[in-house]
Amino acid sequence: MTAKRIDGKAAAQEIRSAVARLVPAFETKAGRAPGLATVLVGEDPASAVYVRSKNRATAETGMISFAHNLPDTTSEDELLQLVVDLNTDERVDGILVQLPLPPQIDAARVIATIEPAKDVDGFHAMNAGRLATGLDSLVPCTPLGCLFLLTQQLGDLTGLEAVIVGRSNIVGKPVAQLLLAKNATVTIAHSRTRDLPSVVRRADIVIAAVGRAEMIKGNWIKPGATVIDVGINRVATEDGKGRLVGDVAFQEVSEVADAITPVPGGVGPMTIAMLMRNTLVAAHRRAGLPDPEGL
Ligand SMILES: NC(=O)c1ccc[n+]([C@@H]2O[C@H](COP(=O)([O-])OP(=O)(O)OC[C@H]3O[C@@H](n4cnc5c(N)ncnc54)[C@H](OP(=O)(O)O)[C@@H]3O)[C@@H](O)[C@H]2O)c1
Repeated sequence: MTAKRIDGKAAAQEIRSAVARLVPAFETKAGRAPGLATVLVGEDPASAVYVRSKNRATAETGMISFAHNLPDTTSEDELLQLVVDLNTDERVDGILVQLPLPPQIDAARVIATIEPAKDVDGFHAMNAGRLATGLDSLVPCTPLGCLFLLTQQLGDLTGLEAVIVGRSNIVGKPVAQLLLAKNATVTIAHSRTRDLPSVVRRADIVIAAVGRAEMIKGNWIKPGATVIDVGINRVATEDGKGRLVGDVAFQEVSEVADAITPVPGGVGPMTIAMLMRNTLVAAHRRAGLPDPEGL
């Protein structure tokens, strides 16, 4: 058996097109386009690529992008002041501060300063708490992307056993909350989990968010499971260029699973698509409009 490859690129394009179709209606009602402010501190090449892609995607969907590029010598107070200014800027519906931040800046303080209604990354404790208690919230983008791919593949998740490997605030915990809300039976595994292969073998749904190249092996997977690989790991190659792999040993797991996301081209593209979705949703809520249909 060879597993179906879940096409995250196509799903992401679908969401971005849906956002682009919905922007003009928002503009008509609100008298302005939705706006996303991105903040990049320093020159980390990977972060710069991510932020550029986010700004480009924002413009492509017809929303307004406000890009703030600050030097890596920026102090915490300077960054907090920018966040406070963006909180009160009426043109800005979403604020995204790209992580990681330089060592002189406490990321937790920055996240806590973002106005929760503009927290399109969904990292603020207010949004995390609202998600955990079943209230409307802005949900982190990568977990939303995982849920979208899972429901597209499986439909109703009720009663399915889901094992999430990884318990970060960015991926593991919010994805667990989303699956719980969809009536899956959820286990969160982590570095202290005993006999991880046996735990993973129970799962109808495996979500790998670990950051360890190809850690999850074929013989850990229950036949017919659906596997969502969030990991992005660069491994060395003979030509010196390196290549990206996930947390799942793709070839061997493909022999056992029913469906699997590739890396790249699986969860990765969903993150930016869901950022566009969250920006449009935040704009609607801030303008007192109902959430846009079909997202
Ligand atoms: N596709 C995307 O857009 C996207 C977005 C975000 C992240 N990612 C990728 O997803 C991966 C995870 O990201 P993250 O931010 O969630 O990472 P993280 O904050 O480093 O968390 C990693 C989690 O994996 C657990 N872990 C580490 N080693 C383990 C082991 N040997 N066995 C079981 N669990 C283990 C850790 O357990 P402890 O808590 O016990 O330490 C932790 O909970 C990374 O590769 C990252 O690049 C991709």
